[in-house]
Amino acid sequence: MTENRLSDRALRLGVNIDHVATVRNARGSAYPDPVRAAKLVEAAGADGITAHLREDRRHISDADIDGLMAALEVPLNLEMAATEEMQAIALRHRPHAVCIVPERREERTTEGGLEVAKDENRLAHFIAPLREAGSRVSIFIAADRAQIEAAYRIGAAVVELHTGAYCDFHAEGRFEERDAELRRLTEMASFAHGLGLEVHAGHGLTYDTVAPVAALPEVRELNIGHFLVGEAIFVGLDPSIREMRRLMDAARA
Ligand code: PXP
Repeated sequence: MTENRLSDRALRLGVNIDHVATVRNARGSAYPDPVRAAKLVEAAGADGITAHLREDRRHISDADIDGLMAALEVPLNLEMAATEEMQAIALRHRPHAVCIVPERREERTTEGGLEVAKDENRLAHFIAPLREAGSRVSIFIAADRAQIEAAYRIGAAVVELHTGAYCDFHAEGRFEERDAELRRLTEMASFAHGLGLEVHAGHGLTYDTVAPVAALPEVRELNIGHFLVGEAIFVGLDPSIREMRRLMDAARA
């Protein structure tokens, strides 16, 4: 495992840099470099970098993971599907954290949480070597009691609760459904914490939606990517991250 500096903040911000690679790959060139972006993100005060190495390599590449592992001072959270190929890559790099996500080629982004309860045995065997290698294993799931219990049973250290539905309802003006989803996130953050799991959250978060999630006392880390990289087009990476940090701190206070 790498000796990165792990922040002891009550609420960490992990920044997902996948979409810097999306822009690069649109031209098949070397620019913009996600590792350079990650160093700027680090300097702006982020507590970690998140990158999703997809089976089809549509954004982050294997070389990006090599570069991030070599360059980062903050921890890397490697998001990946539960496949043998990804397991071998994670075991070679031994990142601080590995977040297991569902993956379907046809999806635009990680659309739902992992169905842990349906695949418990295989996932338990899948994560065991990652844990032994020293990576903290996180499971990306919907705010659902059965999934949390299954994540606990397979030996995950962390659950990351999917905030995508909450953010979508907000964006579509469906505020009653948004508030119901937020209540589910609130209850399930508390339930997971009660089991001894560390609780993270992420997907789709923006300046408009971050505060209620950041205010949940059991949540230790938010992972945010697409919005921050998009906002960086207008204001730059550093100000976009500092503003997100400010909103998180304000919500927590
Ligand atoms: N957390 C997980 C597990 C994810 O898969 C993603 C998207 O890759 C994120 C957080 C970040 O989502 P977004 O890019 O929408 O902020």
